[in-house]
Order: sequence, then C-alpha cells, then structure tokens
Amino acid sequence: MPTVYVPIGIPGSGKSTYYETLGSHVTHVSPDNHLYRNGTYATSPQRRKEAWRQAFTVVEGAIARGEDVYFDATNLTVKARQRLLWMARHARHAYRVVGLHFVVPFDVCEERNRQRPANRRPTLEAMQDMERSLEVPDLREGFTDIRRVGGQ
Ligand SMILES: Nc1ncnc2c1ncn2[C@@H]1O[C@H](COP(=O)(O)OP(=O)(O)OP(=O)(O)O)[C@@H](O)[C@H]1O
Ligand SMILES: [Mg+2]
Repeated sequence: MPTVYVPIGIPGSGKSTYYETLGSHVTHVSPDNHLYRNGTYATSPQRRKEAWRQAFTVVEGAIARGEDVYFDATNLTVKARQRLLWMARHARHAYRVVGLHFVVPFDVCEERNRQRPANRRPTLEAMQDMERSLEVPDLREGFTDIRRVGGQ
C-alpha cells in the first residue's frame, strides 16, 4: 500500500537526513526547495505562500499516481498536518499515513543548526518558538502508524 510519510520535528532534528534512508522510490516534497530562485533563498510572505502551494500541487500529483510521498517540512502542529492526512484519506488509492516523530534534544538540534550557512540557520528564538509549538502526533489525527525517530 502506498505511504505518505509525515516527519514531525524542529529544524536540525534529522528529517531530511532520514529521507535518504527510505530510497528514491519515495517522492520527496519540500516547500523549502520551492523557495530557491537562481541560487538565492527568497522568503517574502508571498514567496512562502507560493512555495507551499507548489509543494501541495506536487503532493496531489504524486498521490494521484499512487506514489510514496515524504513531505519534508517541520509539520509541528495538528493543523499543519491536517491537509496531508485529508489528501491521503481522499486519494484514489488506499494510503497509509506514517507519522515520524523526531525526538531529539533541543541542544543537539541547536548544535547541528550552528553548522549551517547563516541564511539557512533559524535563530535561537525561532527554534524556541517551534519547540514550544510542537504538538505530539496522535493516532486520532488519522495516522495509520506513528514511529519515534532519533532520541540521543
Ligand atoms: N541521526 C543523526 N545523527 C547525527 N547527525 C545527524 C542525524 N540526522 C541528521 N544529522 C545531521 O544534522 C544536521 C541536520 O539534519 P537535517 O538537515 O536532516 O535536519 P532537518 O530536520 O531536515 O532540518 P530542517 O527542518 O532545517 O530542514 C545535518 O548536518 C545532518 O547531517
Ligand atoms: Mg530538512
């Protein structure tokens, strides 16, 4: 049965790295990737909105074809995850939706982020806000399965 993977975790928790373990048969979708234009990272509200729209269009196409999908975003809140769960539930094919809860200490994520180029590094305040906003995934949201990843 095809699967939608929903990683859930703050920046640096290892979401994009984990994708590499799944294999190239899984379609990688990342709103962030749609923010790159000519090598620069555009983040105006308008561009962000457009990037998300494009990412969901890619998901729509992949789901219509019955592909496995990895939606590589932080997906921290019930609301942020709702649309993906809805799309999988209403797909032509029966889908599994696997929540991947990245449980990695805040300090470890912070340290990893410090290694990144400045324009791709969230501020400490932004990281703290995201950590606070995280809602632990629950099967009642509609996940078929929830797995914990990480934890060092
Ligand atoms: N399991 C792991 N053990 C050690 N280092 C890891 C692990 N997973 C990821 N890393 C390292 O941590 C850094 C951040 O990982 P990654 O880019 O996968 O995070 P992310 O959750 O996708 O972050 P973002 O939300 O900003 O995209 C990378 O340098 C990666 O090599
Ligand atoms: Mg990433």
